[in-house]
Amino acid sequence: MTNMQAQLLSPAPAADSAHRDAAGAAFDLRSLVAADGAALEDFYDGFHPQRAAQSLPPSGRIRIARWLQAILPTGVHLLAWRGGTLIGHALVVPTTRVGVGEYAVFLHQSERGKGIGAELTRAAVASARKAGFIQLWLTVEPANRAAVRTYERVGFRFRPATRLSSEAEMTLDLAA
Ligand SMILES: CC(C)(COP(=O)(O)OP(=O)(O)OC[C@H]1O[C@@H](n2cnc3c(N)ncnc32)[C@H](O)[C@@H]1OP(=O)(O)O)[C@@H](O)C(=O)NCCC(=O)NCCS
Repeated sequence: MTNMQAQLLSPAPAADSAHRDAAGAAFDLRSLVAADGAALEDFYDGFHPQRAAQSLPPSGRIRIARWLQAILPTGVHLLAWRGGTLIGHALVVPTTRVGVGEYAVFLHQSERGKGIGAELTRAAVASARKAGFIQLWLTVEPANRAAVRTYERVGFRFRPATRLSSEAEMTLDLAA
């Protein structure tokens, strides 16, 4: 069993203490557990806009459920909560390149612009490193300024050859 698979089978980790958003309000971050599937389906069903980034999240409950079934069993999944409500999901899924994970992050529309995306991404990067990933890779539309700033802030850098493309690539090396 790989570290990445083991992470999903471990008992529920305690929330890693309260974080504070830009307004000082508390939110929690913790890793996915099996019981979170239903909350994730509800989260993505209410997500706006649907297909916000590279056609994700998918639209419609059936497509959302199918997508979650494909991505949740492997990799790193970190969830952000406000009280008992799921407000964000950061994911690192293995790619065909050994040790390279694809990163994406989705935050509920009512919670954007408060610093949570950057905090969630920072924590997901640390979890990915711990799980044994050596590099994170992602694609982003350069016009998605919130996403680009979030990624840059945490250390991702554009692959220069892709920077002007409609789907630019960014990477972050995790080796110490
Ligand atoms: C992308 C996303 C995760 C960012 O999270 P967030 O909590 O809104 O962003 P933060 O408040 O942490 O801000 C991070 C940086 O982005 C900037 N930013 C936030 N919203 C912005 C906006 N609408 N326009 C421009 N910059 C913005 C912030 O100023 C900050 O940059 P700074 O450090 O230079 O000040 C969130 O907006 C989201 O879920 N968007 C929809 C889904 C998506 O596009 N996901 C990414 C692609 S997979």
